[in-house]
Amino acid sequence: EIEKKVEALLSEMTLEEKIGQMTQLTIDVLGVPGSAYQGDFQISEAMLDTVIGIYKVGSILNTPGTTAQTREKWHEIISKIQDKSMEVMGIPTLYGLDQIHGSTYILDGTMFPQTLNMGATFNRSLVRRGGEITAYETKAGSVPWTFAPTVDLGRDARWPRMWENFGEDAYVNAEMGREAVLGHQGENPNEIGKEQIAVCMKHYMGYGAPFSGKDRTPSIISERQLREKHFAPFLEAIRAGALSVMGNSGSVNGMPVHASHELLTEWLKEDLNWDGMIVTDWADINNLYTREKIAKDKKEAIKLAINAGIDMAMEPYSWDYCVLLKELVEEGEVKMSRIDDAVRRVLRMKYRLGLFETPVYEVEDFPLFGGEEFGKAALQAAEESIVLLKNEKDVLPLADEKKILVTGPNANSMRTLNGGWSYTWQGTGADKFAAKHNTIQEAFKAKFGSNNVVYEPGVTYNNDGQYWEENEPEIEKAVAAARGVDVIFACIGENSYCETPGNLTDLTLSENQRNLVKALSKTGKPIVLVINSGRPRVISDIEPLADAVIDVMLPGNFGGDALANLVSGDVNFSGKLPFSYPKAVNSLGSYDYKPSEQTGTMEGAYNYNSQMSFQWAFGYGLSYTDFDYSNLSVDKSSFTAGDELTFTVDVTNTGDVAGKESVLLFSSDLVASLTPDVRRLRNFEKVEIQPGETKTVTMTLKGSDLAFVGSDGKWVLEEGDFKVQVGDEVLDIVCAETKKWETPNI
Ligand code: IFM
Repeated sequence: EIEKKVEALLSEMTLEEKIGQMTQLTIDVLGVPGSAYQGDFQISEAMLDTVIGIYKVGSILNTPGTTAQTREKWHEIISKIQDKSMEVMGIPTLYGLDQIHGSTYILDGTMFPQTLNMGATFNRSLVRRGGEITAYETKAGSVPWTFAPTVDLGRDARWPRMWENFGEDAYVNAEMGREAVLGHQGENPNEIGKEQIAVCMKHYMGYGAPFSGKDRTPSIISERQLREKHFAPFLEAIRAGALSVMGNSGSVNGMPVHASHELLTEWLKEDLNWDGMIVTDWADINNLYTREKIAKDKKEAIKLAINAGIDMAMEPYSWDYCVLLKELVEEGEVKMSRIDDAVRRVLRMKYRLGLFETPVYEVEDFPLFGGEEFGKAALQAAEESIVLLKNEKDVLPLADEKKILVTGPNANSMRTLNGGWSYTWQGTGADKFAAKHNTIQEAFKAKFGSNNVVYEPGVTYNNDGQYWEENEPEIEKAVAAARGVDVIFACIGENSYCETPGNLTDLTLSENQRNLVKALSKTGKPIVLVINSGRPRVISDIEPLADAVIDVMLPGNFGGDALANLVSGDVNFSGKLPFSYPKAVNSLGSYDYKPSEQTGTMEGAYNYNSQMSFQWAFGYGLSYTDFDYSNLSVDKSSFTAGDELTFTVDVTNTGDVAGKESVLLFSSDLVASLTPDVRRLRNFEKVEIQPGETKTVTMTLKGSDLAFVGSDGKWVLEEGDFKVQVGDEVLDIVCAETKKWETPNI
C-alpha cells in the first residue's frame, strides 16, 4: 500500500522537488532575522517562500536559537511549516529533533538519565519505557522524528561522546538499542502510531573509537572488529525496524563514512535489504572537502556522498546543495535512479509516520505530557543507573541525624546532572524548568532536613567560560564547613559539554577538585565521592582517601533525588558499570581484551608488564545486600550453531534488605584460530530478590552467538571448548562443529 503511494507520488515529481526531499535545513534559516536568539522565534514568510516555495526543502531540524520551546510554540512553528509544505507540494515536512534523553527540546517534559546511565541499569524494560515516554512527549510537540538512540560503542574513555551511548559493549548496545527502537516506534515500523515517532540510529559507524580519543577524528578499526562489534547494534536495530540512520562524522580506516559506498550502501542497504533512510550529520557533506580533503569542492563532495548512499543532507544552512545536486544529475554524475532511490526512502518514511494524514497534532491530545507518571519512570531509571563502587566501614546507608557537608562543583548544578548539551541548549526556559527539580544539595536538604545539610562548594565551574574552566577555588571554606559535620559528600566530575568542545588533553580529574578532596581528607571525616561526569575521569590518587565512591554519571533531572533515595537506604543500589573505569591515563581498554594484553610482569630480558589496569571493571557495582550464585547449569553441554542453549542459575539474597541484581552471563572461547577475547557478555537479566529468597534465573543464547568474524571476514563458529561464567559460577560447554556463514544470514 505504502509502496504504491510512494511510486505514484514519485512519478509526478520534478527533479527540483525530488532534490528538495533530500535536503534538510536548520530551523534558524526560517526565522525572522535575529528572532531565534531573542527569545521569541518568529517564522519569516519570505524565508518559507524561498526554502519551501522555491527550493522545495522537505525536512527541517533543530530548535530555534538552540533554545527549547514550549509545546504550544512547537505547534505554532510546525503548523506554519506543514501548511506551507502541503500548499506548495502536497508533501509534509519531516521535522527532526535531538530528543536524546527525553524531552530535551520541548520544555517542561520528562528528562531521563543520559544513554550511558540507561546502559548501567542493565534493565531492558526501563529503556523501552523511556523510549515510549520520549516518543509521546515529542509527538506532543508535533515532532515525528528523533535523532536517537546512539549506539556507538563507547570504547575510549577520552572520547567526549562516551555518555551518549549504552557503554563499551556491543551486546549491551544492541539489546538496549533494540528496546529503544521498539519503545519509540512500536512493533510495526510501517505504521507509526499517534504516540510514536521514528528513531535515527547514530552515528553509523565506528565513531566511538577515534584513535586520538578526540571527537570527529579518524578511527582505525579492523574490518573484523567493525563487523563483529561496531555493526552489531545497528544490525539489531534494523531487525527491530529502525527507520533511519545518521552517518559518523569521521573516517574509518581512511575513508570518511559519509563517502563510503561499502558501509552505507553495501553493508546497510544491500546486505540487510533495508529500505530506511540515511541522513548525514551536521554539514558532513561539506566536511568531505573542508576537513577530510577527499573532494576538491562542494560539488564533488555532494557527488561522493549521494553516490555512496546518503539519502538526505543535513546541510544545514544553505540551499546551494540543491543547485549543485541538480547540476550533477543533469551532467550525468549522479544517476536519476540514485535520486529516485533516495526520495523513495524519504517518502516511505513520511507515509510510515502518517504525516500525510496528520502533519500536526493538538497539544491537548497529549494530557500525560510532563506528568507524575512519566517523572516516576525517569526517577526509577536514575535510581537503577547509579553505581556504588566502594562502601567501606558501613559509611552508607547514612544513619539518621547525621550532619552532612555537600561540596564540590557538581553539588548544585542541574546542568551537570543532565550533562551534554541539554541545559546549555535550553536557554532561559531551562533555568525555570530546573527550578522544579533538585540538584544534589537540594535533594539532600529535602531528604535529610535543611538543618542537617551544609552546602559549600570549594570549587566551582566558570559557566560563562569554556566547559573545563573552573573559578578560583575556595577550598578552605569547604574544609572549615567539614569540621562541623559527620560525613562529607564530595560531588566531583565535569561540567557539561558536547561533541568536539569536550575534547580533553588529560583524562585525570582536575587538579582543583583533587586538591579539594585531599584537603577534606585531612579533617579525618568520612568522605563519599560522588562522580558526576559523562566519562570516567582518572581519580586513582584520591580514591584511597574515600570511604565510599558512587558514580552517578549523568542521571538527568531526577538524579539528585535518586541519589538521596539511594544514600538514605530508602532504595537499594543496583546499577553496574557499562564501561571499564581506567586507573591511569595510559591504561585504557575494554573488558573484552585479548589474553596477550594481560601477561603480567616477566622477570628477565623482557619486561612484559602489560597488565590491564582498571580502577573498576565493566559490570562492577555494589549493593546494600549480597547475592550468592549457585547451581549454574545448561540443558546441553555439546552444541552446534543452530542450537539454543538454556542456562539456569540460582541467585540468593543473603543480606537483610531487598535488592535488584543484574545477572550477567559471559562466555570465553578457550582456543580459536584468531586470538579470542578473554570474555564476552552474551546475556543479562535483572531480578528483584527479597532477603533470604532464592530466584532461579534463566538465560538463553544461540550456538551461533558464540561465533566471531574470522580472517576471511566471514562469521565462524569453531569446534572446541568454551567457558561460561555467571557471577562466580563457571561451566564448560563444547561446540561440536565448525561452521561459517556470511553476515547476517544466521
Ligand atoms: O544529531 C546530532 C548529532 O548527534 C551531532 N551533530 C548534530 C546532530 C543534529 O543536531
